[in-house]
Amino acid sequence: MPGHRSGLSWPESVRTGLAGLDTTELASTDDLHQPTGPALAAMELAAQCFGAGKTWFLTNGSTGGILTILAGLVGRGRTVILPRTCHLAVSHAMALLDIQPVWLEFPQSVPPDPLGFLPVVSVTMVAEAIQLHPDSAAVFLTSPDYYGRCADLTAISHVVHQAGLLLLVDEAHGSHFAAAPGLFPKTALASGADACVQSAHKTLPALTQGGYLHLAESLLGREPLAAGRMTAALKIFQTSSPSFAIAASLDFARAYLETEGQEQAQKTLASIEDLATTLWPDYLVSPAAANPVRGEFRDPLRIVIRSRNPLARPATELARELSRQGIDIELSDLTRLVLIPSLDQPSHDFERLRQALRIGLADSPGAQPGYTTMLQHLEQSWLDLLVQAPECVLAPGDALLGQQETAWIPLADSANTVVAQSIAPYPPGIPLLLPGERMDRPRLDLLLALRNNGINLSGVDHDSIRVVV
Ligand SMILES: Cc1ncc(COP(=O)(O)O)c(C=O)c1O
Repeated sequence: MPGHRSGLSWPESVRTGLAGLDTTELASTDDLHQPTGPALAAMELAAQCFGAGKTWFLTNGSTGGILTILAGLVGRGRTVILPRTCHLAVSHAMALLDIQPVWLEFPQSVPPDPLGFLPVVSVTMVAEAIQLHPDSAAVFLTSPDYYGRCADLTAISHVVHQAGLLLLVDEAHGSHFAAAPGLFPKTALASGADACVQSAHKTLPALTQGGYLHLAESLLGREPLAAGRMTAALKIFQTSSPSFAIAASLDFARAYLETEGQEQAQKTLASIEDLATTLWPDYLVSPAAANPVRGEFRDPLRIVIRSRNPLARPATELARELSRQGIDIELSDLTRLVLIPSLDQPSHDFERLRQALRIGLADSPGAQPGYTTMLQHLEQSWLDLLVQAPECVLAPGDALLGQQETAWIPLADSANTVVAQSIAPYPPGIPLLLPGERMDRPRLDLLLALRNNGINLSGVDHDSIRVVV
């Protein structure tokens, strides 16, 4: 990230002309909040390209889009069915909008997938939750996740719509899916979602913070007022001076996807397959893993790498070493590396990655007996806690924004406190504790162990956290 590779994916004219695109609302430009001219035309082209009934440009990422969708389509105080494995932005939206969560129940203690740490929501889980809570307003899901794993949105949208609910999707990591329908999983909209957000800046050549918010044509048919509510919500959650430079890059990203996306995707996917073949048997690389017959869907552009040899150090350390060699890893958890190549990533970059991984392997200190088992055990505890439905002592909104006193205390001394803000290993940014949850001993031990193994903790500042006193 960002998907424009320091501007290398852009033509020279865009690279050098960027400052000229940074304008405000003028007669010759348009108004991004009330577009009637070129901005409207650009958003209409995007709607056509992504198969939406209506599209808005987001200039503060999917974060702003998630707040907007939940405010515009769900509204205050209503119930939403969702997994606890959503991005931080969702818990903030819940707190601000006083949304009542119905947590989807994952099977307990499933071993982590070698190439995707986060659990995937199944249609059965959604059907069971709807049966118990038929009055909910919507089902909110993330697909694909950080590891590129996707839910079976087609089957899920069928169940959701039969019950008369809305299906809202955080497709932050999937804006490139529309580039090559045969090569990538079906988009959320093509699978029947009513609305979705996409962080174009993650996988398309758009400026950081650039994203799309799409409403399905079918939703606009059923609820013609939905577009107006979305525009009103966007005025709340997006700056009153949305950046035209970001908007222009979103227009460029759409045009790029339409004209070059398929061809570039083919080339890059071939490079990834080649990488997987040549790194075997030392490393397992993601494309090998998806099995559509078993109902598994995976983004083939997302590279997840895991060593097959006993580990001598956490993947975070290997990531730091690769970064010293000029290869920026998007995410490293305890045992996996996750990389986001751009659609036009040149093949020599894959060669550099291959060589760096080989050097990393050769330089790796000998594994201590039991070290891999220790990391796997830690990972299992992390996953076990992530799939447990949160039990909030205080409502997230009250803990985050209420009047009660809070204090910063050392993380190490926080056992049995109630946290006042989300604490999330980042990336992937999935809160291990939501505001209002109790810091019990297993969660505290896990956070300390993750920190000691090089995982960054969002919500922990100088080793301290904010708790309710
Ligand atoms: C699944 C998911 N949703 C939403 C977001 C927020 O996206 P943005 O950075 O575009 O605001 C992220 C960011 O990493 C994410 O991983």
